[in-house]
Amino acid sequence: MKNIAVFASGSGSNFQAILEMVQEGKLEANISLLVCDKQGAYVTERAKEAGIPAFVFCAKDYLSKADYEAEIAMLLKDNNVDLIVLAGYMRLIGSTLLKEYEGRIVNIHPSLLPAFPGKDAIGQALAAKANWSGVTIHFVDEGMDTGPIIVQERVRIAKNETHESLQRKIQVIEHKLYPEILQMLMTREEVETR
Ligand code: GAR
Repeated sequence: MKNIAVFASGSGSNFQAILEMVQEGKLEANISLLVCDKQGAYVTERAKEAGIPAFVFCAKDYLSKADYEAEIAMLLKDNNVDLIVLAGYMRLIGSTLLKEYEGRIVNIHPSLLPAFPGKDAIGQALAAKANWSGVTIHFVDEGMDTGPIIVQERVRIAKNETHESLQRKIQVIEHKLYPEILQMLMTREEVETR
């Protein structure tokens, strides 16, 4: 069974959805650990509750991004992590982690990329009065929410849509789609620690 590390910064509803699919045996993976960059983020409570080791790394405690990522990379290697799963991790992945895990880092983003990358994609779509938004799952490269797209699913934006209602629609899709795509990746040889 392959080992995954989930990286998250916030509430962790996607972490929870992935965890539940693992518990139900629908995602055949082992969640080795959670990496979080925000002290006190709710996702760390979810991990504790499930007995999954949670590690908080604050970037400001390190002299450089390379130092910050080198420590994370060491932890991942020690735990034989095969795949990094970004689930609301609001920080750019740098060259240190990319070099170690090239082609083995995936991200989920709440828009139809390349539209509305970066923070608050839902707010951006509403401000642009877009008729459609959605969810993108993609491999990570050095850009912000760029990299080869694996799958996208569309969501219609209603006339009276609010931030909360659109977020709810998007999260329903995210929570189903991300575990499904991860399960698909588990059968690929490229996703394996060398
Ligand atoms: C998710 O909607 C995810 O797509 C988004 O953060 C949210 C995290 O929610 N990611 C990005 O915006 C990445 N640029 P969660 O903490 O409840 O899983």
